[in-house]
Amino acid sequence: MQVPFLDLKAINDPIRMELEAAFHESLDESHYLFGKSVTAFENAFADKIGVANCVSVGNCTDALFITLKMLGIQPGDEVIVPAMTWISDASVVSQLGAKPVFVDVDEHGLIDLDLIEGAISLKTKAIIPVHLYGQMVAMPKLMNLANRHGLKVIEDCAQSHFAKLPSGMAGSFGDAAVFSFYPSKNLGALGDGGCISAKDDSLALACRKFANHGGIGKDSHEFIGINSRMDTIQAAVLLRKLDHIDAWTLARRELAAYYHESLNGLSEIALPNAEAGESHVFHIYEIRSPRRNDLKAYLEANGIQTQIHYPKAVPFTDAYKQLEHQHTEFPRAFLQQEQTLSLPLYPRMPKDHQDKVIEGIKAFISI
Ligand SMILES: Cc1ncc(COP(=O)(O)O)c(C=O)c1O
Repeated sequence: MQVPFLDLKAINDPIRMELEAAFHESLDESHYLFGKSVTAFENAFADKIGVANCVSVGNCTDALFITLKMLGIQPGDEVIVPAMTWISDASVVSQLGAKPVFVDVDEHGLIDLDLIEGAISLKTKAIIPVHLYGQMVAMPKLMNLANRHGLKVIEDCAQSHFAKLPSGMAGSFGDAAVFSFYPSKNLGALGDGGCISAKDDSLALACRKFANHGGIGKDSHEFIGINSRMDTIQAAVLLRKLDHIDAWTLARRELAAYYHESLNGLSEIALPNAEAGESHVFHIYEIRSPRRNDLKAYLEANGIQTQIHYPKAVPFTDAYKQLEHQHTEFPRAFLQQEQTLSLPLYPRMPKDHQDKVIEGIKAFISI
């Protein structure tokens, strides 16, 4: 039996008829861009997050770029980003001519709130907290800190759709938040997609204009913009999938709980935070082991696919080698890149697959 890391067909097949209906509807409507599903999805998504505005765009990297640009980030500015994340959080800052200032992560892999103040300079304009793996940064504390220093906050919710703290959903705390609908995300399109949520109407409108050549409507170019928009067909698919996301999140939490109860206490294996409750939506279930590479190879040899998120913390990627960051500057991010292993976890993952992963890990430890 082969155990894939992720089986998107298993997730999409049970709602195939709904997805096909979405295709037919979009085909009949023939507005492949700016169709009615785009507005319907934006409204439904904003409602569910609890924010006033949702602006759909081509992908989450664009969403970050557009938001930072419309918040006025420019050459010479500094933006604080976690050392361990997907590269987009830093690369968009660099694309704008600004400098990403990396901050190490805590034991859960989230930006270490106690280190942020030490990274703030007179040039700092914004912070990008990333709700990595699906678990939320302590946003009330981060917002306090940001407000004290007059910094903008852009939450990266690419991996954390509908994670929530008692005081609000991921995406409802910052000045703005960005989401990815890349196919493997918790809420995934059948291609690329992303969006920006923003409290402030004028920021949302500016983002909408910038994403559409600097204006709303044909031949309106109030300023220089780009082209980044969500296809109607993807919005129609996402709208259908919104009806299922709560059940999928629950399924993810149940699978995570089963991993936890089966793997808890094993020597040399550290598990994700079991106390996170609804603030974790388990986009990724990552364990840590000092023998990570051997464990990965062992599982692979036994037909079990795993992944590493991420093999290099951003400061240590070739893209940022000119900054000459040392491992000792970001010890936790470095440890994470060396020890983290992501196990298969997705809604409708068969129980015998999960049992095989658990048995595989136990067998490896006993070698
Ligand atoms: C944390 C994080 N931020 C941003 C992105 C970029 O998303 P997209 O692929 O939609 O541009 C991703 C995608 O993997 C991500 O995981």
